[in-house]
Amino acid sequence: MSRARRLHGKVALITGAASGIGEETARLFAANGASVVIADINDELGRNVAASIGIDQASFHHCDVRDEEQVEKTVSYTVEKHGRLDILFSNAGIVGSLTSILKLDMFNFDNIMATNVRGVVATIKHGGQAMVERNIRGSIICTTSVSATVGGVASMAYTSSKHAVLGVVRSSCMELGTYGIRVNCVSPYGVATPLAFRTLNLEENKLEEVLSSKTSLKGVVLKASHIAEAALFLASDESVYISGQNLIVDGGFTAVRSII
Ligand SMILES: NC(=O)c1ccc[n+]([C@@H]2O[C@H](COP(=O)([O-])OP(=O)(O)OC[C@H]3O[C@@H](n4cnc5c(N)ncnc54)[C@H](O)[C@@H]3O)[C@@H](O)[C@H]2O)c1
Repeated sequence: MSRARRLHGKVALITGAASGIGEETARLFAANGASVVIADINDELGRNVAASIGIDQASFHHCDVRDEEQVEKTVSYTVEKHGRLDILFSNAGIVGSLTSILKLDMFNFDNIMATNVRGVVATIKHGGQAMVERNIRGSIICTTSVSATVGGVASMAYTSSKHAVLGVVRSSCMELGTYGIRVNCVSPYGVATPLAFRTLNLEENKLEEVLSSKTSLKGVVLKASHIAEAALFLASDESVYISGQNLIVDGGFTAVRSII
């Protein structure tokens, strides 16, 4: 198969696809031949992304991943429209505020967990069911973070939520592997997306400069497109024997501790 059409004929559902990493991945999956359902709480942005990809290949469906019923309806919409679901990219996530545990607002903690963990679990549950019922050897990919591997990069709440997603991936890859379904995650280092702008309150160039200064790999700046490429690899048949893995895209950030 041509490297440009690595997802030819496949159907992908992507949460959090109205912006940032999810949007970039929706565009790349569509460019590689997939039909894409963009699921997000931001209807205006989501509809615009779908329209700009083209109605023959992309559509938008409102979905708040914190609400299981909405997740179930979004998966139903996908299989009713396309007859199948091959790829689930469970990507929607929030950072929340960088509050110390000593001043933690438990409501904010619950909201981060509901979005980043419960949302991922609900999408795997319903996306997995749709694949199993149709005998589809699908690929499920979650977006975690370097905060699934190390502490201290983000708040305790966000770090805990991303560590939890790693557990969800490692556990569900065993159960769904029985049906030939692969479950992996991709862990980005900091990427200049609206989420990162909101968190660090820096404009794009400065943000990328600060983030790049902390990694061992020099001469390249991490972009949402690099995460989309990693997701494409995990979605495509090129990774057919890879399951339960955490593909860390961080320019060596989590691997290296330099004392000079
Ligand atoms: N940008 C980074 O530096 C970075 C680093 C590591 C991991 N991540 C992870 O990448 C993923 C995508 O983040 P991004 O940087 O593209 O951010 P983003 O804010 O640009 O995009 C996130 C999208 O998720 C949607 N969303 C938020 N809550 C939702 C909900 N309850 N239901 C459905 N959709 C919802 C938003 O509307 C938005 O479109 C997140 O899981 C995030 O934790 C980001």
